[in-house]
Amino acid sequence: MQKIIAANWKMYKTRAQAAQSAASLAAGLRTVPAERCVLVFAPFTCLDVVAQAFAQNPALACGGQDCYPADEGAFTGEISPAMLLDCGATWALTGHSERRHILGEDDALVARKTIFALEKGLNVMLCIGEKLEEREAGNLSAVLERQIHSVFEAMPEGQSLDGRFAVAYEPVWAIGTGKVAGHAEVLEAHAVVRTLLQGVLGNAAERLPILYGGSVKPANAAGILALDNVDGLLVGGASLDAQSFLQIVGV
Ligand code: PGA
Repeated sequence: MQKIIAANWKMYKTRAQAAQSAASLAAGLRTVPAERCVLVFAPFTCLDVVAQAFAQNPALACGGQDCYPADEGAFTGEISPAMLLDCGATWALTGHSERRHILGEDDALVARKTIFALEKGLNVMLCIGEKLEEREAGNLSAVLERQIHSVFEAMPEGQSLDGRFAVAYEPVWAIGTGKVAGHAEVLEAHAVVRTLLQGVLGNAAERLPILYGGSVKPANAAGILALDNVDGLLVGGASLDAQSFLQIVGV
């Protein structure tokens, strides 16, 4: 399976800074190895700039960090999938832990966003992951099951997911904390996610990429990427500097 290396720029970068970073990535990734695909989840205000810088290279794409499940309407501050597509984005993140835990999004809203974005033609990366207290209470599998099932229970039958849907496992306690999950913890969680996906999708689950995210850096990226059931990386802090992200992509 093609490995996806994704950057999450969060609420960082002005348009000028984004243009500079995207140009450095485009220059550094002129020859992306065929088994790699590189995504940048940029702030909404920078999507057109990043899309333009990536336009000549089909291995590079950009996405929004969220979207609202409606075509348009009185939803102050929100952004629709059509607006993301209009800016050149082809992907959307849904359910990032900062949206779940800082902005209060629940599983039902994450499911609606995921399904609506897919229906409207975006590719979607659904983020899931447990909090430290949930892991310590032995609830890892139950939390991941709840987060995955809430999406698939609401998914219309026959929705095509091949090449357009990925799951990012990001333990909340490892995001932005410098505390990377150990290999055994990543293996355990990714095996749980694969089994849950098999439960809802059967054999097609083998083709769904499962990314790891949480304090990925140039020094630990290759080791995590080599683990079973790890089909990519979602990188926050270490993606802000283009050279550091290029090292993680492995070029
Ligand atoms: P981090 O963030 O790499 O800074 O831990 C990952 C993420 O939030 O996607």
